[in-house]
Amino acid sequence: MKTLVTGGAGYIGSHLVDRLLADGHEVVVLDDLSMGKMANIEHHLEDRRFQFIEGSVLNQPLVRETLHGCDLIFHLAAVVGIPYIIDDPLRGILTNVVGTEVVLEAADEAGCRFIFASTSEIYGKSEKVPLSEEDDRLLGSTRVSRWSYSTAKALDEHLVLAYHQKQGLPVVILRYFNSYGPRLDPQGYGSVVAKFIGQTLRGEPLTVHGDGQQTRSFTYIDDTVEGTVLAAECAEANGEVFNIGREEETTILQLAEMVKKITASSSQIIFVPYDDLYGSRFEDPRRRLPDASKAERLLGFKAQVPLTEGLKKTVAWFRGNL
Ligand SMILES: NC(=O)c1ccc[n+]([C@@H]2O[C@H](COP(=O)([O-])OP(=O)(O)OC[C@H]3O[C@@H](n4cnc5c(N)ncnc54)[C@H](O)[C@@H]3O)[C@@H](O)[C@H]2O)c1
Repeated sequence: MKTLVTGGAGYIGSHLVDRLLADGHEVVVLDDLSMGKMANIEHHLEDRRFQFIEGSVLNQPLVRETLHGCDLIFHLAAVVGIPYIIDDPLRGILTNVVGTEVVLEAADEAGCRFIFASTSEIYGKSEKVPLSEEDDRLLGSTRVSRWSYSTAKALDEHLVLAYHQKQGLPVVILRYFNSYGPRLDPQGYGSVVAKFIGQTLRGEPLTVHGDGQQTRSFTYIDDTVEGTVLAAECAEANGEVFNIGREEETTILQLAEMVKKITASSSQIIFVPYDDLYGSRFEDPRRRLPDASKAERLLGFKAQVPLTEGLKKTVAWFRGNL
């Protein structure tokens, strides 16, 4: 099968590319390298089944041309990471809404199955535990830039479902919950796991935002990719939305302590008020735990990698790549 991975030079995209090639598929990557890195995919450049195209999903003629002959698209290209969204909300909104519309329209013309990378951020600051796919979303004011990412991805989901309903386009929506693993940006700008590991390996204090009691469900990259591939292979998944995450909550403080222990670090843990980082217009969800039972029932997906094991593998990669 010939597949297109937009954002395939990025963190999740490049691991997905590794898996698709290992499974025997042809893979085309379209990435503008705004965040992705050639280092993530250069080990495939000699493979005849692999093609890299540097360009933007906002370039409609290029997207149409790139899609030619593809059977399946994984649309991962996006501006990702709350700090980036807060720094430049306009770029985030345009890439994440217009880019998705361009790729969807081209997928519809080419009759390609469309797998969309959505996010747990969709649920906003909902405190429901656990979060199911049909649950309400709870967002704050539009003056809080963070919510533009959630809103853009939600509009994308509406677009994807509308193409499915109106045009019969085969689609699947995946809401990833805090994926972590090798190839995260070592500066940690956007991933708390990468930030803590980078800080300990540089001998710096670990900076916990707020009181550190906010929770997330950290999902190792192998599980994120497995859920994505299972969704692409499952015909019954058409038109469906799935939470792809590990059903275990960890506080940010616990995560900092685990990273310290695994790296045998003597770094201090310090608490930084949100206001010092993002100003007074910032909100952070207190809890995020997926109900992943739908993915288990329909796709046979269940996250397998315990947090300690995944963190050890991630630390090992960071030691070789910082
Ligand atoms: N990492 C997570 O925990 C997580 C959680 C929820 C959702 N997601 C979603 O998964 C997808 C991949 O995220 P990631 O963590 O790998 O981020 P990433 O930043 O590593 O990957 C995104 C890729 O998209 C590329 N890109 C950005 N704008 C582009 C454009 N205009 N044209 C072409 N390429 C462009 C970047 O260069 C990068 O390679 C995103 O859609 C993101 O919203 C990720």
